[in-house]
Amino acid sequence: MVLVTGGAGYIGSHTAVALHEAGFMPVLVDNLHNSKASAVDGVRAIVGEDIPFEAVDICDKAALEALFGRHDFVGVLHFAAHKAVGESMAKPAMYAANNVGGLGVLLEVASAHDLDNIVFSSSCTVYGEPEDMPVAESAPFQRAESPYGWTKQACERVLEDHAAARGAAHVALLRYFNPIGAHPSANIGELPLGVPNNLIPFLTQAVSGIRKALTVFGGDYATPDGTCIRDYLHVMDLAEAHVAALQWCLDQPDDQSVIRPFNLGTGKGASVLEVIQGFERATGQKVPYTMGERREGDVVAIWADPSRAANELGWRTTRSLDTSLADAWRWQEKLNQEGSN
Ligand code: UD1
Repeated sequence: MVLVTGGAGYIGSHTAVALHEAGFMPVLVDNLHNSKASAVDGVRAIVGEDIPFEAVDICDKAALEALFGRHDFVGVLHFAAHKAVGESMAKPAMYAANNVGGLGVLLEVASAHDLDNIVFSSSCTVYGEPEDMPVAESAPFQRAESPYGWTKQACERVLEDHAAARGAAHVALLRYFNPIGAHPSANIGELPLGVPNNLIPFLTQAVSGIRKALTVFGGDYATPDGTCIRDYLHVMDLAEAHVAALQWCLDQPDDQSVIRPFNLGTGKGASVLEVIQGFERATGQKVPYTMGERREGDVVAIWADPSRAANELGWRTTRSLDTSLADAWRWQEKLNQEGSN
């Protein structure tokens, strides 16, 4: 069995599907702070099996101990974390306590149970504004722009020290670029509670009339069309990378610690305006948008050099930007039909 913390979240739920497809049984653990149990139902509907779900907060050591007593895990995929950049500016202590503290509790309990295969959700935010593009894993960290970004840097460091101290830990640090889209069945997808911060959920809600026009944050950057550039990848591609990373952990020598960061992206950048055009092309829907001010803390342009993941994990993205956008829209249409968002 594989422990999936944050298993009811956006990336955790899609990864549960990919794990199951690959023959692993995921155990989904979530405190439902920023997610809904309906995501677990969605996973179960896709895989056709009663995937275990445990409503546990990873910061609750006693509850985590009890969980480890109930299941025998071969590895842990650790997604559970707060992830809103703006909120982290207002509540830095909460971000430190949950993201860094939560990892600490998890590692203490996991190592007490000799669980040493760890896949960690990191972010390209650790690079800040990179000097060379595309960005490779060897690029230096910049001072984090936000408390959220700092927690990702700090967690990577905690894992590095933990691996060194354990002597037999296998840790994959997965640095995500911008995951978008949804499972093509539309049983699971991104479920932002409240006003979305991220581009795609805001865009699909604007197209649905739930929000007014999308504001494009800045049209005067030094990029070909003046808008920011990101590396958008399909969430199912990202999910499959986690399975490859878990397998990589399991393949490492038993008596040696290994920790390795991997960039997960397509290797191609798209601007905000290109995403809007791609969405219109892929769905036939018109996107209402206006050009607005720059958003504080935004990096101008970043996309991945994903060659390490290709060479060492045997993973690369297979779904196009248009497919990702069409899947994001199919999911939003389902939410609209249900009247739940
Ligand atoms: C942000 C964080 C990243 C974090 C991720 C998870 C920064 C610099 N990065 O990614 O560390 O892992 O969220 O939530 O904060 N945009 C608009 N209008 C909108 C929303 C977004 O124009 O209403 C633009 C942004 O300026 C950006 C792009 O769309 O250029 C993507 O934004 P978003 O989806 O928020 O992701 P990031 O900012 O890349």
